[in-house]
Amino acid sequence: MRILVTGGAGFIGSHLCERLVEEGHEVMCLDNLCTGDPRNLETLQGHPRFRFILADAVSPINLTVDRVAHLASPASPVDYGRLSVETMMVNSLGTYQALELARKNGARFLLASTSEVYGDPLETPQGEEYHGNVNPVGPRACYDESKRFAEAMTSTYRRLYGLETVILRIFNTFGPRMRREDGRVVPNFILQAVAGEPITVYGDGTQTRSFCYVDDLVEGIRRALFTDAAVGEVINLGNDGEMTILELAERVRHLTGSASEISFRPLPEDDPQRRRPRLEKAREILSWEPRVSLEEGLSKVVEWFKEHPV
Ligand SMILES: NC(=O)c1ccc[n+]([C@@H]2O[C@H](COP(=O)([O-])OP(=O)(O)OC[C@H]3O[C@@H](n4cnc5c(N)ncnc54)[C@H](O)[C@@H]3O)[C@@H](O)[C@H]2O)c1
Repeated sequence: MRILVTGGAGFIGSHLCERLVEEGHEVMCLDNLCTGDPRNLETLQGHPRFRFILADAVSPINLTVDRVAHLASPASPVDYGRLSVETMMVNSLGTYQALELARKNGARFLLASTSEVYGDPLETPQGEEYHGNVNPVGPRACYDESKRFAEAMTSTYRRLYGLETVILRIFNTFGPRMRREDGRVVPNFILQAVAGEPITVYGDGTQTRSFCYVDDLVEGIRRALFTDAAVGEVINLGNDGEMTILELAERVRHLTGSASEISFRPLPEDDPQRRRPRLEKAREILSWEPRVSLEEGLSKVVEWFKEHPV
């Protein structure tokens, strides 16, 4: 199949491109490199079934495709804080352009949405039927609300045009190729622990997260692209092993043999208190299950940072 991956030079997108090329698909990666890195695509450069297109996803896209996986969007609070208007544009106009491309080609469209559409949830675990608790005017709104808009636009195309669509609500994912400076908790903790610097915990560390290893996530995305029963569905993808941020800090410290102290800082505004996906739909529709343990995944990231010092 011919598959367009927008945002394919980023952390998750580059793993997805590799996986799809390995399986024999023809993959086009469209990216403007605002948070992506061409080094993420090193293994694919020159491959006869891979093409990189340097372009902004907010401009019209003219390609022949069977599947569109729309991943383009800054994804970490540091990135969307710095690129807040760009984030809103790629999730609104960019989603429109990607949907138009899918509509013109009669292609299936997959939206990489986020658990952030649940905001600071009043229900735990979060099931797909939960409508969320998002502050529309807070500092995270440029991301949360534009992803909600992207979901609304995708659902509208399904209703209006009968487009084959799948919305994936992705929960915190980690793995090799996360950027050192992207401000997310896994790279922060690992880099601080390895350097023997204090591990920075925001708030009192009792807020929870669940962490999915990137290979598991990519397998879920791959299944969502090709499983007919996923069409028209909204599906959570993540790992349901919930832990507090303090527990994560302890596990990273133990894994890296670090003596780093823990340093507490004020909690950023609108930081969600709990995050844990309900995964029944992913299990039932995609026969998918996260398999990689936190320790195994963290070890791979530690190794990767060692091998990629800059
Ligand atoms: N990593 C996570 O834990 C997580 C969780 C939930 C959802 N997601 C979603 O998954 C997708 C990928 O996230 P990621 O962690 O790989 O982030 P990333 O920043 O590593 O990758 C995003 C990619 O999109 C590209 N991009 C951004 N705006 C663009 C534009 N206007 N035109 C073309 N390319 C553009 C960037 O250059 C980058 O390569 C995002 O849509 C994100 O919202 C990620």
